[in-house]
Amino acid sequence: YVIGVDLGTSAVKILLVNQKGEVCNEVSKSYPLIIEKSGYSEQNPEEWVEKTTEGLAELIGKFDGDVNDIEGISFSGQMHGLVLLDENNQVLRNAILWNDTRTTKQCEEIYDVVGQQQLLEITKNPALEGFTLPKILWVKENEPELFAQSSVFMLPKDYLRYRMTGNIHMEYSDAAGTLLLNVAKREWSQEILNLFDLAPEFCPPLVESHGFVGPVNAEFSLATGLSEATKVFAGGADNACGAIGSGILAEGKTLCSIGTSGVVLSYEERNDLDFEGKVHYFNHSEENTYYTMGVTLAAGYSLSWFKDTFAKEEAFDQFLEGVDEVSAGSNGLLFTPYIVGERTPYADSNIRGSFIGVDAAHERKHFARSVLEGITFSLNDSIEIFRNSGKTIDTIISIGGGAKNETWLQMQADIFNAKIEKLTSEQGPGMGAAMLAAYGSGWFTSLKECAETFIQTSKTYHPIPENVERYKKIYAIYQQVYTQTKTLN
Ligand code: XUL
Repeated sequence: YVIGVDLGTSAVKILLVNQKGEVCNEVSKSYPLIIEKSGYSEQNPEEWVEKTTEGLAELIGKFDGDVNDIEGISFSGQMHGLVLLDENNQVLRNAILWNDTRTTKQCEEIYDVVGQQQLLEITKNPALEGFTLPKILWVKENEPELFAQSSVFMLPKDYLRYRMTGNIHMEYSDAAGTLLLNVAKREWSQEILNLFDLAPEFCPPLVESHGFVGPVNAEFSLATGLSEATKVFAGGADNACGAIGSGILAEGKTLCSIGTSGVVLSYEERNDLDFEGKVHYFNHSEENTYYTMGVTLAAGYSLSWFKDTFAKEEAFDQFLEGVDEVSAGSNGLLFTPYIVGERTPYADSNIRGSFIGVDAAHERKHFARSVLEGITFSLNDSIEIFRNSGKTIDTIISIGGGAKNETWLQMQADIFNAKIEKLTSEQGPGMGAAMLAAYGSGWFTSLKECAETFIQTSKTYHPIPENVERYKKIYAIYQQVYTQTKTLN
């Protein structure tokens, strides 16, 4: 057996997985966000350790096999969150999370000091509020006495793993989201560290995601029931693990994942493509490979906003009844999902959404369908960036909310003009983490081989040419809405 721990933003989810890739048991424990002010989002790292300990103890308590048969454990983690430790490895303050947006000024400083082009060349990414370096600079400027005591920084799942093993490391897929890593060279950027007067020791040693970082220590073994023989492997960023857990492990493989936000993620063998910072470009959790990723901020969130505003008491299935009776294009109704701003391709937090073409004959089902179409058009913006770079995208694996509704799956095939595949069983990033433990434990010679055993697709949706043509015309109009409405607010 292996264990995959997914340290998320709202909960930790733990999976016990056997050699066939079947989930034998799972436990989830939630923890709160600490929101002191608007735009702030923090968590107490101790809470991650406590809830993971409780969850593992519960999982092991229910396990009727021999704990020594649990060969490995690995992690998936919410990205970018800043954990600061002092010289005795004690946590100095609450972690500042990926969805904390207090750092706009620090992002501007990063551009001023490093230069936009140089930042892109080294880190392959733009300065976004969510990334880690802006958070480090915020603490340095606003809590200088506390910052003076810091000796090393960590990311959420790396801190959790440190508490399990006593060893401090970071792995490439999460380090890629700090703006301190030279992504192509796979080393901490001495240039950026120098520019911000940060010591090299401030950054933990780098390891591979499937790298062995030690056994479970005696204290953690006692608290959870895990054997001290269980090997701990570094793990990966949640998006990288989500991709691995969906089999995105070869050139040409693309993922569409619709949660609160939506992600289109594409596997990259190369590290020298130029997307001008329009999509995130990170190290994968497979050694020496990469992935690019575009984000729609309000994907599932647009749908839940619409449902909660106009039909709060209805379940999603009920709410979406009738969308299949409306033809492609929602009878002229067009929605743009910028209700909290947009990340890809505009990186604009001020733009807002719209309904255009409202007709007296439209009913609720037309609005519901146009919301699904608008979200999918926005995700198509990311796919267009990939295609315009020369990439061929003919098959996309769809997971999350978008894979729960047949009409939406067919719509993705028609708007993306690609085959859409649905997985037999969806376990998200926790499965990717379990696969890293399985590969690290030597069950397979590669993650690709592991995916062949662990991941199966159940159904394929093919684009319908007539709908593809209709959506192409509407998408051309959709793309103009941003420029025509960006000064509305
Ligand atoms: C990625 C990002 C989020 C977090 C969520 O850049 O900010 O997807 O990883 O945990």
